[in-house]
Amino acid sequence: MCKWKQVVVGSMAALVAMMLIFGEENARSAATAGAEPAPPAGQTYTGSKKCASCHFAQFMLWKKGKHSKTFDLLPAKYQKDPKCLDCHSTGFGEATGFKDITSTPSLAGNTCENCHGPGSKHEEVCKPFAKLKKLTAVQEKAARDSIWLLLPGNVCVKCHVTKAHKESETPKELRTAD
Ligand code: HEC
Ligand code: HEC
Ligand code: HEC
Ligand code: HEC
Repeated sequence: MCKWKQVVVGSMAALVAMMLIFGEENARSAATAGAEPAPPAGQTYTGSKKCASCHFAQFMLWKKGKHSKTFDLLPAKYQKDPKCLDCHSTGFGEATGFKDITSTPSLAGNTCENCHGPGSKHEEVCKPFAKLKKLTAVQEKAARDSIWLLLPGNVCVKCHVTKAHKESETPKELRTAD
C-alpha cells in the first residue's frame, strides 16, 4: 500500500475507533448520570496558551496534530466566513469565542476548549495548586470537576459530520478526499 493511503486509512481507523470509544464513554456516563458533575457555568474562553502553562504535554501533542492548524486550512476569502468558522475555530458566535485572527489569535483552529469547553474558572480553581508537587485527592477532584473531560453531546460529530467530508459545508474544490 502506498504511503499516503496508509496515512488516510490509519487516521480514518483512528477516528472510527475514537468515536466508538467515546460513544461507549457517553453511554457509560449516561448510565452513571451525575458521575461527572457539570463544571461551573459562565466560564469564558482563555485560549490554548493559558492551558499550556499547566498542561504542557497535552499542549505539545495538540500542537503537533492537525486540530491546531484547521484555521490555516481556510483560504483567505473564507477566513471571515461564519459558515466555515463554526468548525474551523473555537467558540465562534459565543460572547468570548473566536472573532477574527487579529483580535483572538489563540482561538483560531480547533483548540483545547473546543473539546473541553471554556476554562476560565478551571484556571482560577487550579492556580493555587500550580506550585504543588502532588495534589491531595480533594484538590485533584476540585480541579477535575471544574472542566469537562469531554464536552457532552457527542462533540466530535458536531464537526465530523460525515466520513471523508461528504455532505459537509467545505467547498468541493477544497476537499482532499471524495
Ligand atoms: C493553573 C493550572 C491549570 C490551568 C491554567 C489549566 N489547568 Fe486543566 N487541570 C489542572 C489540574 C491541576 C488538573 C487536575 C488533574 C491533574 O493534576 O493533572 C486539571 C485537569 C484538567 C482536565 C481533566 C478533567 C477531568 O474531568 O478529569 C482537563 C480536560 C483540563 N484540565 C483541561 C484544561 C484546559 C482546556 C485548560 C485551558 C482552558 C486548562 N486545563 C487550564 C490545572 C490547570
Ligand atoms: C479534538 C478534541 C480535543 C482537543 C482539541 C484537546 N483535547 Fe484534551 N482530551 C480530549 C479527549 C477525548 C480526552 C480524553 C477523554 C477520556 O479519557 O475519556 C482528553 C483528555 C485531556 C486531559 C486529561 C488527562 C488525564 O489523564 O486526566 C487534559 C488535561 C487535556 N485533555 C488537556 C488538553 C489541552 C490543554 C488541550 C489543548 C492544548 C487539549 N486537551 C486539546 C480531547 C481533546
Ligand atoms: C470544532 C470542530 C472539531 C471538533 C469539535 C473535532 N474536530 Fe477533529 N477535525 C476538525 C477539522 C476541521 C479537522 C481537519 C484537519 C485537517 O484536515 O488538517 C479535524 C481532523 C481530525 C482528525 C484527522 C487528523 C488527525 O489529527 O489525525 C481526527 C482523527 C479527528 N479530527 C478526530 C476528532 C475527534 C475524535 C474529536 C472529538 C474528541 C474531534 N476530532 C473533534 C474539526 C473538529
Ligand atoms: C460541519 C463542520 C465544518 C464546516 C461547516 C466546514 N468544515 Fe472544513 N472541515 C471540517 C472537517 C471535519 C474537516 C476534516 C476533513 C474531513 O473530515 O473530511 C475539514 C477539512 C477542511 C479542509 C481540508 C481539506 C480536506 O478535505 O481535508 C479545508 C480546505 C476546509 N475544510 C475548508 C472549509 C471551508 C472553506 C469551509 C466554509 C465554506 C468549511 N471548511 C466548513 C469541518 C467543517
